[in-house]
Amino acid sequence: MPAQHVTLEYFPDLPEALVEILAHTRHITVLTGAGVSAESGIPTFRDAQTGMWARYDPMALASPEGFEHDPETVWKWYQWRRQLIAENRPNAGHEALARLQGPVQKLTLVTQNVDGFHQLAGSEQVLELHGNIHRNICSVTGRLIDADWVRQHEDLQPPPSPHHSRGLARPGVVWFGEALDSATLDAAFEAAANCDLMLVVGTAGAVQPAASIPVVAKERGARMIDINPERSELTGLADWHLAGPSAKWLPVLVDKLTAAR
Ligand code: OAD
Repeated sequence: MPAQHVTLEYFPDLPEALVEILAHTRHITVLTGAGVSAESGIPTFRDAQTGMWARYDPMALASPEGFEHDPETVWKWYQWRRQLIAENRPNAGHEALARLQGPVQKLTLVTQNVDGFHQLAGSEQVLELHGNIHRNICSVTGRLIDADWVRQHEDLQPPPSPHHSRGLARPGVVWFGEALDSATLDAAFEAAANCDLMLVVGTAGAVQPAASIPVVAKERGARMIDINPERSELTGLADWHLAGPSAKWLPVLVDKLTAAR
């Protein structure tokens, strides 16, 4: 644990040492997880009671084997999640991260989320480690399937793939046991290795390789802030733990940073 590790409850004035860091940081790398969308009404995965994986079996719904076994159930579960996302909006946390593009020289936003809320809030060049739920790909070839094709065949659940006779349309997200896109992953690790401030928001840090991104940043000398109402597997690495919801803390942090420049 860093010597000066400080936990702040929402929300006192930020300590001078943290404001100093915000004033002088040049490259911020952000890693977000499901918690950043929690206040948009999208359930997280591992929160007790409310998390997806408390109610659903991840191997049945988020693995290639689960899809092969029961494609209809998997497809319908993702259609339900897509509907939930469509009915909700990015929150003040997503919006604050989008505003952060202005005042810092370089910002790299890496997300494990598949909801597209960062882009909807205005963030550009988001590195989506786990894909995007709004896309569909062929279950055999992995090729992208046009949204129009899916709409035209939506009476079939899932629709067939136009790319392979045995293929089906499946969501363009990374499932358990599948590899992440290597170019996206490389860009995320490079940004972690080169940033001076690592901001971790709303992730339990329980899934690899994403959870190693802040570890690399710390090893390379970056300072780290963790925003999470709970302690996560990554909190101990952080110089500052901002204990509380990200839709409250992120605007405070971004406003301070902007004012300090
Ligand atoms: P988790 O559900 O594992 O963790 C969510 C974290 O968000 C927890 O640490 C919560 O304490 C925190 N949290 C809850 N509400 C919050 C709020 N309002 N503000 C800030 N933090 C809050 O989600 P991830 O870490 O994103 O993968 O999970 C990683 C991956 O595991 C997901 O991308 C998904 C899942 O299986 C795939 O689907 C491939």
